[in-house]
Amino acid sequence: MMNINKSVDNFNEIDKTQIIKEIKQLKKSKNAIILAHFYVDGDIQDVADFVGDSLALAFQAQKTDADIILFAGVHFMAETAKILSPDKKVLMPDLQAGCPLADSLTAMQLLELKKKHPDHFVVSYVNTTAEVKALSDIICTSSNAVDIVNSLPEDVKVIFGPDKNLGYYVKSMSHKKDMIIWDGACPVHLNFSYEKLHDLKKKYPDAIVLAHPECDKKILVKADYIGSTSKIIKWTQELDAQRFIIATEPGVIHQMKKLNPNKEYIPLPRKDGKESICVNMKKHNLEKVYLALKNEQPEVTLDKELIEKAYRPIRRMLDISEQLGLK
Ligand code: 13P
Ligand code: SF4
Repeated sequence: MMNINKSVDNFNEIDKTQIIKEIKQLKKSKNAIILAHFYVDGDIQDVADFVGDSLALAFQAQKTDADIILFAGVHFMAETAKILSPDKKVLMPDLQAGCPLADSLTAMQLLELKKKHPDHFVVSYVNTTAEVKALSDIICTSSNAVDIVNSLPEDVKVIFGPDKNLGYYVKSMSHKKDMIIWDGACPVHLNFSYEKLHDLKKKYPDAIVLAHPECDKKILVKADYIGSTSKIIKWTQELDAQRFIIATEPGVIHQMKKLNPNKEYIPLPRKDGKESICVNMKKHNLEKVYLALKNEQPEVTLDKELIEKAYRPIRRMLDISEQLGLK
């Protein structure tokens, strides 16, 4: 066992390979698995048992027989894992890894909206708190949002939140035109520069533009393909092109390079020329993963009643996704 005290700073001197070895041993001895989102640091993706988008991670959380799930993602994702696996211990390397988009719609705000529109069906993006999920009729992710909305009867009116860009994208792609869309957005996807995209397209006319639906409409109309993180990664492998402009958090490029190192992946920058990073996803690191597994904390806990209420709309989404073969 390594001689590690609790201060994360001390890890700088410790050999990464040793930490990875310790993490693997802890996973085995504690029957733990690591689920990681594509936006976390590549080192964590490499030590994870499963790396995926929000929908795939939810399915994994539901089906695992591990005793402990270490969730390397943002808070709402770990909450979803806890809701789907309430008897398991769900840990996060850093509990402060939140999602500003999820926080942009509170349970109180949704309650008020529901009161104003009592005949509307609430479709909530998975990027929401457990409290908001508990007030929703169905959940969707970026990967299944259009199909979920299309699965609703034609006369059903919809409240969609909290991401307005995904909302307007869904509205344009589905048969549902009667939608009240909440005014929330993801700062990471909102910050992409339209001018820089224009310049890059001019410089590399052969490049394929792949965008996440959380991007602003100005970016989406210039994209060749729009989809979830896993779809974006898949397209870089399947399409017969050598160069891609990536309009989502650049953590996805880690998997792209692993799957096909010979292609070129250009992260779309922000207006200031810097990469648009999700600072919350980057709060996790290998040292925190090690400590969380060793100390079995910080743990994600939720009230039993809240779990039961939030479970129903997630279950509905998973059932429809299964029926449609969207896993
Ligand atoms: P995906 O479900 O496409 O992985 O997206 C999650 C997310 O938070 C995007 O910002
Ligand atoms: Fe939330 Fe945006 Fe980070 Fe996704 S990229 S987790 S929506 S802040």
